Amino acid sequence: MIQIKLPFIHLKTNAFSYVIHITQVEKIEHVYFGKPLIDDDFKPLLFKPTAGVGSAILYDRNGQNLNLDFFPSEYSEFGKGDFRLTPLELHMPDGSFVTDFVYHSHEIQKGIYPSNDLPIGKENDSVESLILTLKDTKYDLYLKLIYTLYEDSDVLGRRAILVNNDETVHIRKLMSMMVDFVDCDYDLLSLQGGWIKESHKEITPLQRGTLLLESTTGASSNRVNPGFILMKKGTHEDFGSCYGFNLIYSGNHYEAIQVSNHGMTRVMSGIHPQAFHYELAKGQSFETPEAILTFSALGLNTLSNQFHHFIHEHITPRQFKGLLRPVVINSWEAFFFDFNESKLVSLAKKAKKLGVELFVLDDGWFGNRNDDTSSLGDYTVNLKKLKGGLKRLSDTIHKLGLKFGLWFEPEMISEKSVLYQTHPDWVVKVDGRTPSLGRNQWVLDLTNGEVRNYILKSMKQILNETLIDYIKWDMNRHITDAYSKHVKHPGMFYHEYIKGLYAILKDLTETYPNLWIESCSSGGNRFDLGMLSYTPYVWASDNTDPIERLKIQGGLSYFYPLSTISAHVSLSPHAQTIRTTPLSTRFNVAAMGCLGYELNLKYVTKAEQTEIKHQIELYKIYREVFQQGHFYRFNSPRKDLTLFQVSHNQTHILGFYQNGYDASPNTDVIQVKNLKPNQTYSIESVQQTMPIQQFGHLIAHAIPIKLNPNGYLMHKIGQYKRLNNATESYVVSGAALMQGIPVIQQFSGTYYNEQTRLLGDFGSQIYIIKEVGETHA
Ligand code: GLA
Repeated sequence: MIQIKLPFIHLKTNAFSYVIHITQVEKIEHVYFGKPLIDDDFKPLLFKPTAGVGSAILYDRNGQNLNLDFFPSEYSEFGKGDFRLTPLELHMPDGSFVTDFVYHSHEIQKGIYPSNDLPIGKENDSVESLILTLKDTKYDLYLKLIYTLYEDSDVLGRRAILVNNDETVHIRKLMSMMVDFVDCDYDLLSLQGGWIKESHKEITPLQRGTLLLESTTGASSNRVNPGFILMKKGTHEDFGSCYGFNLIYSGNHYEAIQVSNHGMTRVMSGIHPQAFHYELAKGQSFETPEAILTFSALGLNTLSNQFHHFIHEHITPRQFKGLLRPVVINSWEAFFFDFNESKLVSLAKKAKKLGVELFVLDDGWFGNRNDDTSSLGDYTVNLKKLKGGLKRLSDTIHKLGLKFGLWFEPEMISEKSVLYQTHPDWVVKVDGRTPSLGRNQWVLDLTNGEVRNYILKSMKQILNETLIDYIKWDMNRHITDAYSKHVKHPGMFYHEYIKGLYAILKDLTETYPNLWIESCSSGGNRFDLGMLSYTPYVWASDNTDPIERLKIQGGLSYFYPLSTISAHVSLSPHAQTIRTTPLSTRFNVAAMGCLGYELNLKYVTKAEQTEIKHQIELYKIYREVFQQGHFYRFNSPRKDLTLFQVSHNQTHILGFYQNGYDASPNTDVIQVKNLKPNQTYSIESVQQTMPIQQFGHLIAHAIPIKLNPNGYLMHKIGQYKRLNNATESYVVSGAALMQGIPVIQQFSGTYYNEQTRLLGDFGSQIYIIKEVGETHA
């Protein structure tokens, strides 16, 4: 709800109030962002400066003055006395950088204030917008601050639009939003990383000075995600006040958190100002991407679930909202580039028997692409590998009862390609310089309309000729040599590239509304709300090691729901870490996301195939819980233990993951969140098995025959037989489960039988919790 009681504007949801004040000097004061306010007397909340410190500059207007440097502002600027970081830097017609924006007007409207060419939150009945317009005191130049209240999700969207009715202005920096806090006792939670280590949670205490989260790679990047959280000291998963921020954008981004000399915290987020420059002539306007803000007084889990709700309701393409993601088999880690039709069909047949629903042919199906040095940009099918072409493969896959998916990397070009022979000028480069290579490839210039048309035409031809249910949209390098003749100023390149990408995705998704698109960029190099506006999910990382995935998926979960996180079971030892992990753990982690398998089933024993079949059966039963449920992290009682919970309607699933096994361990206590105390629940651990080879020479303790641990018989038996791990089930009240109940002690060095809970290093267990019977009196 947006309420106006001038000079105050109050934006309110069930989780927060956000209050703005139009001051007498007509600068806009940020009054409050926090727990919802019932009282609408905001005067006591106003900032209360005294005369101003000795060196203060006083801004003077309407007979009043103000020390802008010591003032919580809604959106500051350069040149009038605020010496903190500016969200706005314009090169003005008078040659200066000085601007002076003051209140001009405001307007409230139902629904969304539209955007010309950037993805923003999608509308529903709960949405209301405030358009707060500021005007420069010298020029006919307007800054529209757009506030979109997504009340159902407890989220506030913020963006800025600069409208020029005067002489040409040059934009050097224009942030989507800025918030000033009057205090600074916060920790910053950000997602840091790189290739195969995306989105690792990092907590940094604020201190005087500026912390920057930034990407200049041309994508939102695997280095630092645009999502971040400021939390009051002492906040944890289920306690404390925290502020969440994110940006609906896939390109270079910049988030600055600055603590001033007066202990105030300034936060801003938007397009990175490096190598950014826009010329805005009379009659033109420029809009920023939309930033997303939310607040929770109940800790990080609640904050995350607000973000998740927002994504389900306002970001995910409408036709995929609530639609359950199919179980995938992907050819990449199975064959890499070395496949032919019969290998693919054989993999598909085996996968179908195990319950897989979608077969994805990854890289290597076109041109002469037998490694990563050639053919990007070409769309001719490699008939040496696929003798009957794509159509025959797709038909065969469909006849098996599977859906068919195909990999594309549309934004790239290889030097060894027909496209490069015909259009060397389509590469992103500077004349007279050889562009740098990344994964042996160059970037196509998406600011060029001809390039965009070529991509669309080529993809549509394939999509029209062949029945394709899903595509994986990959993008495997950072952008360098950023320049194009198709933009007026080189400072426009990165942003126009992203707008070009969005234009292609918009066209494609409008032409094929039911086509599943999974976005990917060497894994999670472009995991952001911009891509998620067109593609329902993202390949979170090229790292399929479950222990690494716990960090990656756990990090992502602060901002993104499980329905957006694609996660596959692969062979162990893992290609990325050479770590050996149990099959059960690989599944137990991948199930906390959109499940797939990415392995050559030829190397999977009969016994493991049986286990995989059971895994897929279980996942399908609880798929809605895994993909659409509320997600909870735990303040883990043990350093090397991760616990996740996902809950939907009356079902709760708990994942227990341990990195290392302790000799003679303490008892594990299982706690479940958000139950009804007086309700009775059943809790049951999922049956899982272990390879007998794991026991080596100790096998004699487990089965009553002596086997040579390195012998043929051991190997042969191991292919068909695995050992059961203990299962346990209880019926117990919600109150007891929320408090925590002890489960069977883990193996403690003495003996094994079917009642031994043997997890070992990297072991894990999933528990299913359901409501049973009547609520107690
Ligand atoms: C990237 C992707 C992988 C795979 C390969 C194919 O690395 O992240 O999943 O598709 O490209 O080349």
